[in-house]
Amino acid sequence: MRVFISGIRGFLGRHLARHLSECGYQVAGTTTRIEQVDAGERIFPWRFGSDVSQDWLRGTDIVIHCAHDFAGSLDSNLSGTRALVTAARAARVPRQIFISSLSARADAESQYGRTKFTIEQRLAGADLLIVRPGTIIGGGGLFGRMCDMLARFPVLPLVGAGQNSMYLIGVSDLSRAIERILRREPPATFNLYYAQTPSLKQVLQQVKRLTNRRTLLVPVPPPLIAAALTAADWLRIRLPMDRDNLRGFMKSQRQIYETHLPAILEQPQTVEQALTAVLPGAAGRATALKPSGPA
Ligand SMILES: NC(=O)c1ccc[n+]([C@@H]2O[C@H](COP(=O)([O-])OP(=O)(O)OC[C@H]3O[C@@H](n4cnc5c(N)ncnc54)[C@H](OP(=O)(O)O)[C@@H]3O)[C@@H](O)[C@H]2O)c1
Repeated sequence: MRVFISGIRGFLGRHLARHLSECGYQVAGTTTRIEQVDAGERIFPWRFGSDVSQDWLRGTDIVIHCAHDFAGSLDSNLSGTRALVTAARAARVPRQIFISSLSARADAESQYGRTKFTIEQRLAGADLLIVRPGTIIGGGGLFGRMCDMLARFPVLPLVGAGQNSMYLIGVSDLSRAIERILRREPPATFNLYYAQTPSLKQVLQQVKRLTNRRTLLVPVPPPLIAAALTAADWLRIRLPMDRDNLRGFMKSQRQIYETHLPAILEQPQTVEQALTAVLPGAAGRATALKPSGPA
């Protein structure tokens, strides 16, 4: 079976490509960083706004849309994704998966959530499967940036008292779940996160322990964090979270889609196992998630 992944060199795209190759799929895809592609790899240079060649998609059984321009507008993400969806339909690719987000909602407060929801709506079709992962535990994305900050700074702000729930999925469980979903009949939508939803504080404490960090977590009210993120944005200081992430995170506390993960994977990892699998040096320090205590 031939799979084509847009954003194949990104955090999720890379893991997914490796997992699907190990399962026996022939994998191809796109990247914006063509200079990093080895001769012989079926990876094509593509950036939203540029042409999609029908040749790339010939014989493809499924296209997985992982590419997302986090700095780009709704319009550029929509038109870029649409170009690939349309080319795949013209090439008679029978199935496509759009990697969306749990924040995709009609009433999303974040631009990211509105963008994902708009793409879901505008590109819907009889061939489209939608996957909405929770925050992905692994060495990239928002989770990876949070871990980098824990490693670099002795003191970090904690949103509110850190009691907000986290909707998480390990990158290897997500790759396994997508491999199952690509054999499902479209159209369908799958929300993928663990039934265990620890608080932000519990997760950060567990990461600290597993990586042997002593970072002090200082509770800061969300409006103050929002003001600091606005200032950082003005000063062009790149932080692991921006105002849009914060809006999405706060909204997710009020409304959440039900998870389909138990119906897709018989034995998903626990959050602790997923953390241990991706954090360097964590094996051996693992115990169950501790109840929330002082940060
Ligand atoms: N990480 C999470 O926690 C999480 C949670 C839910 C959903 N998702 C979704 O999962 C997908 C992958 O996210 P990720 O965490 O793996 O992020 P990522 O590492 O930043 O990957 C994004 C990918 O999009 C490609 N891309 C960026 N701008 C592009 C443009 N203008 N034109 C074409 N391609 C472009 C990048 O290509 P190059 O690498 O070649 O530059 C990259 O491979 C995204 O759709 C994201 O919304 C992620």
